[in-house]
Amino acid sequence: MFTRLTSQSELPALNQAKEFPCDDNTICVANVNGEISAMDNICLHRGGPLGQGVISGGKVVCPWHGWEWDPKTGKAGPPGAKIAVYPVKIEGGDVLIEVQKLVPSGGRLEDKPSYAILKWLSGPDTSGTV
Ligand code: FES
Repeated sequence: MFTRLTSQSELPALNQAKEFPCDDNTICVANVNGEISAMDNICLHRGGPLGQGVISGGKVVCPWHGWEWDPKTGKAGPPGAKIAVYPVKIEGGDVLIEVQKLVPSGGRLEDKPSYAILKWLSGPDTSGTV
């Protein structure tokens, strides 16, 4: 089922990313060379807000430590690092995403299957440091 995320006029500018609330989640929308993609907003490294990152080489660069996420596939450099991507369509000036694939309401980063593995791989928590 598709649900309205925002209006077309609110989409990020060319080669920029932006955050949008959607139910209890936040979605990162990226405009890569005019192609609009939607994916989870939470970086699997330490939870950085991807929609506040920049686009470089077609990837969304996490603003905290620079992991680069492909907004079409949801994949980043480390093996197995993948976040959800959502089908997007624009109808009548509205931007819609397919929401049945969203993490259930109240979903937290810690509940995502790959989080525990990535947290273990990344060592002691030094949030806020590079
Ligand atoms: S939180 Fe995204 S790269 Fe560290």
